[in-house]
Amino acid sequence: MSAFPLALVTGANRGLGRAVAEALARDGHRVLLAGRKGPDLAREAARLNAASLHAAPLTLDVGDPASIAAAAASLASGPPIDVLVQNAGVYSQDSDRGAARRTLLTNLVGPIRLTAVLAPLLAEGARVVLVSSCMGELSCLPATWRREVERASSDAELLAVADRFVAAAEEQREDGVATLAYRMSKALLNRLARRLAVELAPSAILVNAVCPGWVRTDMGGPGATRSIEEGARSILWATALTAGGPTGGFFRDGQAIGW
Ligand SMILES: NC(=O)c1ccc[n+]([C@@H]2O[C@H](COP(=O)([O-])OP(=O)(O)OC[C@H]3O[C@@H](n4cnc5c(N)ncnc54)[C@H](OP(=O)(O)O)[C@@H]3O)[C@@H](O)[C@H]2O)c1
Repeated sequence: MSAFPLALVTGANRGLGRAVAEALARDGHRVLLAGRKGPDLAREAARLNAASLHAAPLTLDVGDPASIAAAAASLASGPPIDVLVQNAGVYSQDSDRGAARRTLLTNLVGPIRLTAVLAPLLAEGARVVLVSSCMGELSCLPATWRREVERASSDAELLAVADRFVAAAEEQREDGVATLAYRMSKALLNRLARRLAVELAPSAILVNAVCPGWVRTDMGGPGATRSIEEGARSILWATALTAGGPTGGFFRDGQAIGW
């Protein structure tokens, strides 16, 4: 590990991602602030640099395969990534036909694609955190979708369930489909964490899904019960696990929670 371990945080321009990125920088990491709003990220990096912290912007739209490929290419010749926090996410209440697709694309397909290209760039012993939600607990899903999620493991299976769900959502357009899309995206993301933990175990990489709780961000709204700092702490716990720590789990505040 170099003097400044390298951390990459997606969705780092605001909300939980921004707070996690700053905390990692304060903890001595060189942080790549990844997101789709270049000027916001550059401003945020400059703010951290002005406090003698190491941060740089990285253009990345997790919903765009070309953007993911370009970001990975820009990192390929650099140092390995010690901490990867896949935090970017959407919780859309839109009721238009494409809403479920957009939710699954950002919250699940993006992390699958990003992990696939970044896995070879992860350091031995790296920490990977998938920012999930207790809304993705299996018990919150209708029985048929719950069974589908439980059966899925490989990337292809996870993507196939997502495709079937989106097709059904676009066909039926029932009330509450936006919330169900979010639940499905996070339930499938949890499955991804379990699979990645097994796949990356030979490199001593710890992979966990983390729920930050209900947090007062743009997504959580002003009525949420937790401050951004409290939510960020839940995520940071999984970035700081010591060697041999838990992997393939689902946690809030360092406590295992049910799938
Ligand atoms: N807040 C809560 O109560 C809560 C609870 C449970 C889980 N979570 C999870 O925590 C994570 C962070 O949420 P938050 O509360 O901080 O939400 P937020 O304030 O709405 O921030 C979401 C972040 O994700 C980024 N993002 C969205 N789509 C993206 C894309 N295609 N490519 C790159 N970045 C993208 C946003 O960037 P733009 O500015 O470009 O949109 C923003 O930086 C999410 O995964 C969310 O599901 C939140």
